[in-house]
Amino acid sequence: MAEAQAINPIAGSVPTDAPGRPKKQRNLPIENTVRVRNLIKKYEMGSSVVEALRGANFEIQRGEYISIVGPSGSGKSTLFNMIGGLDKPTEGRVYIDEVDIAQLDAYELAWLRCRKIGYIFQSFNLIPVMTALENVSLPMIFAGLTADDSREKAIELLSLVGLGDRVQHKPLELSGGQQQRVAVARALANDPALVLADEPTGNLDTKTGLEIINLLKQLNEENGVTIITATHDHKMLDVSDRIFHMIDGKVDKIETREEADLHVGKLDGQEVG
Ligand SMILES: Nc1ncnc2c1ncn2[C@@H]1O[C@H](COP(=O)(O)OP(=O)(O)OP(=O)(O)O)[C@@H](O)[C@H]1O
Ligand SMILES: [Mg+2]
Repeated sequence: MAEAQAINPIAGSVPTDAPGRPKKQRNLPIENTVRVRNLIKKYEMGSSVVEALRGANFEIQRGEYISIVGPSGSGKSTLFNMIGGLDKPTEGRVYIDEVDIAQLDAYELAWLRCRKIGYIFQSFNLIPVMTALENVSLPMIFAGLTADDSREKAIELLSLVGLGDRVQHKPLELSGGQQQRVAVARALANDPALVLADEPTGNLDTKTGLEIINLLKQLNEENGVTIITATHDHKMLDVSDRIFHMIDGKVDKIETREEADLHVGKLDGQEVG
């Protein structure tokens, strides 16, 4: 969609909204898709303050597959909300394609959320009164596609995640694994350059979980989509380029997959898998 590219307000970004799939980005120079500086998030709860992020710092390059691991409450979902522009940090900066997202106006931020980032939430966040087809179509309608085009692409995406025969089902008429697959299809609706997946296999059986992992890996390898996932799933770690360990609101350690393989089955003494 040439029109959408023309209004792309994110400097230096690669248009991914051409018809069909995003272009392969393997030949592009290495660039930071996400850069986080001294990120602090405090939640005020009456008289007490929860420090969910205490100064996170890292860079993620375009086309990387990153897994974020860490104990419950270490700040993974909070970090995702900040990177995805869904919530504002108390202090610090998030740069997407080297643009400080705090500097974006409401329109630009909406564009970023709708066109550039695909979200897969820890709880699936599907709209209960809508069918699978309608749930997946919605982001495309927001992005300006016609009802027919969004319907056609939604069916294509639902078939891709193995739900071609469930398009008219509402979330409560689907299993947990199927709901998560609808959420994956919805996240891919606008050909995002970046997918944020918060425990995408957390509620799934092993087989369905593996299908989701393979789907994300396929997007990463074939379309150059940057994947950032919070996970405890060892199979997810196996396909990751790097693994970030979060503890107490900070990225404590970053390992490549090869380094992590040195202690297969354990991460910082915690059993995984
Ligand atoms: N909206 C909120 N208001 C107040 N405190 C919050 C809020 N969201 C998260 N927290 C607190 O911030 C901390 C980090 O939460 P977060 O959800 O980011 O953890 P997590 O690493 O994703 O955990 P899990 O693995 O259980 O999903 C926790 O102590 C949590 O209780
Ligand atoms: Mg979480």
